[in-house]
Formats: sequence, C-alpha cells, structure tokens
Amino acid sequence: MRKSVSFFLLGPCLVSLAFGQASTSPGSPDERVRLFLDSQKDQWREENITESDGRLLYDLILRKGYTRALEIGTSTGHSGIWQAWALSKTGGALITVEIEEFRHLAAVRNFKAAGLDRLIDARLGDARKLVPDLEGPFDFIFIDADKNWALDYFKALLPKLAPGGCFAVHNVSSLGYMKGIRDFLEAVRGLDFMETTIEAAASGGISLSFKTKSPA
Ligand SMILES: C[S@@+](CC[C@H](N)C(=O)[O-])C[C@H]1O[C@@H](n2cnc3c(N)ncnc32)[C@H](O)[C@@H]1O
Repeated sequence: MRKSVSFFLLGPCLVSLAFGQASTSPGSPDERVRLFLDSQKDQWREENITESDGRLLYDLILRKGYTRALEIGTSTGHSGIWQAWALSKTGGALITVEIEEFRHLAAVRNFKAAGLDRLIDARLGDARKLVPDLEGPFDFIFIDADKNWALDYFKALLPKLAPGGCFAVHNVSSLGYMKGIRDFLEAVRGLDFMETTIEAAASGGISLSFKTKSPA
C-alpha cells in the first residue's frame, strides 16, 4: 500500500521532471501528446528535428507567450507537434507548409494522433508560392526547409513578423556553407531592429532573430 501511494505521488512529478513542464495527468491532453511522442521516440525518419530541438522550440514559445506560429517544412510533423503543444498552453495555433504529399499526409495523421490537429493548419504546397499570400502577423516563424531560399523567406515574412516576434532558421551552422544561409545571416545581422543569436546546442545550430521594434 505504502509503495503504491508513493508511486501515485511521485509518478507525475517524475513525468514533470522528465519533460520540464507541468505534470501530465492521466487522460489529459498533455498526457496524450506525451504518450504519442514516447511511442514515436527514435522513429522520426524524414529529416525531422531531434527531441532536444523540439524542446527548445517548445520552451521558447512558452517563455515568450507566442500564439501565432508559422513553420516552413512540416515533414511528418515532429517539430510541428512540439510547437503546437506549446501553443496549446499559450492559446495559439500553427500554420505549417509541406511540399511532399506523403509527408504532409503522414503529418496530418500524426497531429491527429497527438490530439493537436485542431491547433494546426497543415498546408500542402510549395512554400515559395504560398508564403506571399499568408496573412500574418506571426510572432514565431520557423524555417526548416529549402535553406537556399532562407533570405527570400525572410524578406517575404519580415513585414509579417510582429514586434517581439522571432524568426528562427534550423541548421544554420551545419548548412552554413549554403549561400542562402550565408546571405540570410548577413542580411538579418545588418538590421538594427533585429537581434540574432545562434543556439549552438541545437543540432546543426538554430538562429533566433528577434524583432526588437518595428523598422523605421
Ligand atoms: C528538414 S525537413 C522538415 C522537418 C520537420 N520540421 C520536422 O522536424 O518534423 C524539410 C522539409 O521541407 C520540405 N520542403 C522543401 N522545400 C519545400 C518548399 N519549397 N515548400 C514546402 N516544403 C518544402 C521537404 O519536403 C521536407 O519535408
């Protein structure tokens, strides 16, 4: 008896510690996401981000209270799930764009299985063509596709980035040899209303560029 009482008391705390956030009570939406992510651990095979990068996105969205997120490069939805999980706590939603139909369809299935589909508008198409028509504003933009187009995405989306918002690009270190990444970093660092850091701990490095004020 004593053993089971301590399990009930300690169990949620251990889950909480493991995930670095509020405990997930059985049957809760958090528990559903957690169980889904557990079931998929080491199963993400379509160029998906790592779990620790997912946590980085999750923590950033929560810390800043972001609610309007856009992702370019859904793949099968790993990063989308981490972002939407955080957005489920801030009252936000995510638009995510993927060009490959089989990946898009797999992502849609995964979003549903994680119980996050109502927060995610998953679009199938070429982001190069879709981005100009996206309405915005966004307070979190995550570019994880098509890295040679990074500067073009930045130029198209900067007017739609809310003050205080963040424009993040995955793999800026590991793919730093690509012209699109080099040109993007040079351009964003040249703007006095953007503050850029690179999360070196993230796999391949993630640049985080915050809009500190509206451009003059
Ligand atoms: C690195 S993967 C994204 C991984 C995903 N963010 C995750 O962690 O689960 C890049 C994805 O971008 C997609 N992609 C490439 N070019 C694209 C474009 N022009 N528009 C939309 N998606 C594109 C690829 O098909 C691929 O699935």
